[in-house]
Amino acid sequence: MPDDTAQGFDRWRCQFEANRHRRDPDWNQGAEIPAVLAASLARFQVGEGGDGDGMIRAATRAGDGYLAAARLFVGEERDHARLLGRLLAAGGRPAIAAHWSDAAFRSLRWRAGLRREVMVLTVAEVCALRYYEAIRDGADDQLTREVAARILADEEEHVPFHVHRLRLDLFSLPAPARVALAAAWWALAIPSAAVVAVDHRGALRLLGVPAGRYLTETLRLFGSVTRATLTPEPVGAEDRPVRAGPADGPGPAV
Ligand SMILES: [Fe+2]
Ligand SMILES: [Fe+2]
Repeated sequence: MPDDTAQGFDRWRCQFEANRHRRDPDWNQGAEIPAVLAASLARFQVGEGGDGDGMIRAATRAGDGYLAAARLFVGEERDHARLLGRLLAAGGRPAIAAHWSDAAFRSLRWRAGLRREVMVLTVAEVCALRYYEAIRDGADDQLTREVAARILADEEEHVPFHVHRLRLDLFSLPAPARVALAAAWWALAIPSAAVVAVDHRGALRLLGVPAGRYLTETLRLFGSVTRATLTPEPVGAEDRPVRAGPADGPGPAV
């Protein structure tokens, strides 16, 4: 059985709280960002700055511990948008105000309860993991790599944070309900990852990660997340880091 009634979210709150004291990268070093990567980063920035109010609203009934952690989580996502904005500015590249993919995700979360909110968010987070890893490892520019590494480190905490929440919500469901939820989750994750692969294929190719490989590795990671979330027996998922892992490595761990 997952955590007790205290729910164990204090450690996430402490972790997110500690993250707030990190220093920014040195923006004065400037950035050389190829146009195709800048356009891709601008689209991701819109998603990072997305509506956190729905998450907070949904979290209010989930206990003070979770709510406190959720507020800090939303703060981290907004900080990702700020970091990407500063990066684009350092490279003399424009930001954008909106993108259809962000609007699509927002519509999926419209007036959602906590379960749907977190399940949709988790899909977005998993799609982001391999993307930021590709930038961290494949970008030529130092500042771009630093920003991607910082965001990736956060996203690697966010996914197990969501897994922790979902396991608490889902463990008592009967097996058929869990199977149905898994099917619905995959039905969202596959097209979402495919859209990122296609929409960002130019940037991914530049970074040495062809779109097909991005898609394969992201879905493999999502498979680990679904198993960690929906397995009825304790697997200690919330204690394990999430890593996209090297392309030819042993695969993701959740
Ligand atoms: Fe983020
Ligand atoms: Fe995140």
